[in-house]
Amino acid sequence: MMHTMLKTLGFVFLCHLILAQSPQIIRGPYLQSVTPNSGIIRWRTDIPSSSQVFLGENLSNLQLKVIDNQQVTEHVVTVSHLKPNKKYFYSIGDLKNMSTASENRYLKTAPALGSKASVRIWALGDFGSGSANQKAVLKSIVSFTETKRPDAWIWLGDNAYSNGKEEEYQARVFDIYQNDFFQNLNLYPAPGNHDYGGKHDPSLPPYFKIFSMPVNGELGGLPSGVPSYYSVNYGQVHLVSIDTELIEPSGLQLVSGKGLQYEWLERDLKANKLPWVIVYFHKPPYSKGSHDSDTESDMKLMRENVNPLFEKFKVDLVLAGHSHVYERTHPMRGHFGINSSFDASKHVFANTKAPNHYVVGKDGQGVIYVVNGSGGQLGGQKAEWPMKSSVYSNNKDGGSMIFDISQHRFEAHWVSSAGDVKDHFIIEK
Ligand SMILES: [Fe+2]
Repeated sequence: MMHTMLKTLGFVFLCHLILAQSPQIIRGPYLQSVTPNSGIIRWRTDIPSSSQVFLGENLSNLQLKVIDNQQVTEHVVTVSHLKPNKKYFYSIGDLKNMSTASENRYLKTAPALGSKASVRIWALGDFGSGSANQKAVLKSIVSFTETKRPDAWIWLGDNAYSNGKEEEYQARVFDIYQNDFFQNLNLYPAPGNHDYGGKHDPSLPPYFKIFSMPVNGELGGLPSGVPSYYSVNYGQVHLVSIDTELIEPSGLQLVSGKGLQYEWLERDLKANKLPWVIVYFHKPPYSKGSHDSDTESDMKLMRENVNPLFEKFKVDLVLAGHSHVYERTHPMRGHFGINSSFDASKHVFANTKAPNHYVVGKDGQGVIYVVNGSGGQLGGQKAEWPMKSSVYSNNKDGGSMIFDISQHRFEAHWVSSAGDVKDHFIIEK
């Protein structure tokens, strides 16, 4: 009798031990550096384990396998030899236990470089606050994209408040977007001042450890070699993610119009061959929302020293956050002064077919600047709101943007947290 009891207790203890040792996924999976033929699947476990990914075009037959025997908690698995613009379902785990595959867990490879396929991009700024607005903005995009999912996701910085800490990324970013988007949407982020925790040294913030940026020209952009800034070609659009916070070892920042990042940006824009260009970063050159570009030096310097590059290389759209509002300017050239110096007769360069419908002629058109910083945070108004250069401004509703981009047409929607399209514009080339 005693012997049997001891055996039973021993068995129960062993079961507990096995269960206790079975690694639990505590973050992810999430997709990084997705290219036409490859991608990185990342996740985190509570205890070190091996990594295994099963992958396949058919949910019930995941025949591709990638194994990494290293015992780690930060799992970073590259899957390669994939076909462009294809959906691959996947499951993750270790050599003993695999998660169940599901319809929502997939990696869709980027279009082949040069592909003329239309792409849909979701741009989100200043979101990771844990606010009701953040959740409402997410819900509005889930609903807006129900019948046509985004292909790529770009972040405009201030991704996790208040200091870009690990636990803030977990509670205010991963826990909120995990099921709807992290496990199936290709992410190309940019950092903000809150992600840097108010510092300017990229060796410190968790942002640079959590994300794997395509810095080697994997998607056709000019290699940057550093994770602060990079570019990718996605369908017919050249996406350039730059870093307004970084102070280089030389002491220079991008806003000075000098230094490694500025030089890279100039070379990258010059090398681009695609018809559409979006440059995105955190601190906007023009805003009168929760930040004031007339008085804040980073924003003023950005406008004076970097905007001329955007004009020179005919960037279509410059996207930023930082100011917790939405502001969209006319297509502009040569307006590098304060708000009151804007003169529509001098600074607007656009051929308008209908309201908010631009047709780019042989002389090109001005650059459209958008502040899209109410993906979680919301509100703010400085003197002279709304800006003279603004076509549409909103500091009452949160929201985020959806772009549909094909070879000759660029369509933008700003979708409010209530699910309404409050701003909409089209550019044709
Ligand atoms: Fe900010």
